[in-house]
Amino acid sequence: MARTIIAGNWKMNHGPKETQQFLSNLSDKYFDKPNVEAVVCPPFISLPIFQEKVPKWLSSGAQNMYFEESGAFTGEISPKMLADLGVKYVIIGHSERRGLFNEKDDDVNKKVRIALKYGLIPIICVGETENERDNNKTFEVVERQVKKAICDTVKETLKCLVFAYEPVWAIGTGKASSGKDAEEVCEKIRGVLSSMGDLNQANEIPILYGGSVKPENLEEYLSQPNINGALVGGKSLDANSFSELLDLAG
Ligand code: G3H
Repeated sequence: MARTIIAGNWKMNHGPKETQQFLSNLSDKYFDKPNVEAVVCPPFISLPIFQEKVPKWLSSGAQNMYFEESGAFTGEISPKMLADLGVKYVIIGHSERRGLFNEKDDDVNKKVRIALKYGLIPIICVGETENERDNNKTFEVVERQVKKAICDTVKETLKCLVFAYEPVWAIGTGKASSGKDAEEVCEKIRGVLSSMGDLNQANEIPILYGGSVKPENLEEYLSQPNINGALVGGKSLDANSFSELLDLAG
């Protein structure tokens, strides 16, 4: 059975000062539930202060990284740098990276492979656009994204992965997927993973749902057999709503 993860993706919000504020607002809401892992992914510039002040029960993640170790790549951050800082997770292939920054399946694959090399746990995002959904392409798109993201990775590393199913049309729109629809896609993802490794390994991989998650709808997702948590944008920015999500998951 996969572990439950509630991960916050702050996107381009919360610089170092706001990050410190978030952590001090959170500190009196001690959360220690062994069956739920809490993760926050601040912007790069806030990661050092986050690492310094973060309570033990909360893990850190980056929102992206480049697929080279070092070199002449102005403006980029390498997996080695993240690993040196002690960052645990890295989001790879978020739809905003794919859509706004032209990231391709091949880039996602390179990032996944080098993240694993540096001991970072990739949270691999997949999901269809509204147009793809309207044209009944959801399964096809998601299957392709999953397969391409992890092709050429060693079978044994499958257990180190986390997936997030984020229908693009549900992100930041308030139009969340129904639990039943999200479950159908997450079940499909698990099936693809199982076909690439084996069923036992596939069952250990957390598959998160993301897209307009809030305290009012979290339990609907968590009650689905193939959904093991959430990747949360807007509602992870405030310490109170993030704590509420963690409490509901525990
Ligand atoms: O990574 C998080 C997702 O893009 C979801 O964002 O919760 O603001 O819809 P949202």
